[in-house]
Amino acid sequence: MQIPQARGPLTEALFGALRSGSDDFYPVLAVGPVEGEDAALALWVLYELHYRGFDDVSDEMEWDPQLLRLRVALERDLEQRLRERFTSPQGLSVVEDFFDWVAEHDGASVADHVQRAADRDQVLELLRVRSIYHLKESDPVAWVVPRLGVRAKAALTELQYDEYGNGDPNRLHHHLYARGLEACGLEAAYGAHLDEVPLEVLEQNNAMSLFGLHRRLRGAALGHLAAFEATSSMPSRRMVQGLERLGLPAEIVEYYAEHVEADAVHEQLAVRAICGALLDEEPELADDVWFGAFTCLDLEDRFARTMLDHWGADRLGAGEDRREEVA
Ligand SMILES: [Fe+2]
Ligand SMILES: [Fe+2]
Repeated sequence: MQIPQARGPLTEALFGALRSGSDDFYPVLAVGPVEGEDAALALWVLYELHYRGFDDVSDEMEWDPQLLRLRVALERDLEQRLRERFTSPQGLSVVEDFFDWVAEHDGASVADHVQRAADRDQVLELLRVRSIYHLKESDPVAWVVPRLGVRAKAALTELQYDEYGNGDPNRLHHHLYARGLEACGLEAAYGAHLDEVPLEVLEQNNAMSLFGLHRRLRGAALGHLAAFEATSSMPSRRMVQGLERLGLPAEIVEYYAEHVEADAVHEQLAVRAICGALLDEEPELADDVWFGAFTCLDLEDRFARTMLDHWGADRLGAGEDRREEVA
């Protein structure tokens, strides 16, 4: 992947410096506070240095102290904004109450729109913007593995083994997604569609990297995972129905069909085995588990509203009729 297009003064300065091969980032640090897409894209690129990096940036930059300083400033701002939106649920047990809580907090849904009304161009756009995550699916959670006790670690690696194809590269979820993109005639290279993604996609991905890369946020990482898995199976079924309605290729249908089955299992594993084991060992992390879970649902709601508004589509409310209809 190449460094993407800049979206403001910080990314102009940062990307120019990264491409130049210099390790003097003081002019970048001097840009001063920025927000919105400029801040989110800068943070996304700094995180990407820890994943697969960029063809036009030296691998040495992953641990450059000035870049880490910039990353920390952007992360603090992101974490503060995410925490300001969160209200801790009082008196709820993660293992007992998680699925009811998710049902009450589930928001706007792009899968509903795909199922019922989206046209082909809208669905292809959705597949492109989702690719920023799905082409590195499960990677942000992999950082958490060495930070857990034995029971949570065993349960998380069971889930991850499934995400990574159970030993078969052809079953790896991010590879299934890449094959689906190709079958639709879309560019399937890692990061290929970054320049067109909205702020909300950058923030969704940044939140996962933030939680994954900080040991102190391991509770939030696993709460996010649990909410992600608990809101995947039924929307994936709606995606299958919408993709079939539009006659899209079998390969992309297969990616979502795989998640109807897999995530019905993963949601149980994530809530009961992974978060349950974590909280048995470290009960003081319960609030962070809820924070991560809330952040997952909140960011997905914001993403869905942005896309539905962009398409001029109705925002169907979350709730019982939608759930009953799919069930
Ligand atoms: Fe998956
Ligand atoms: Fe899953």
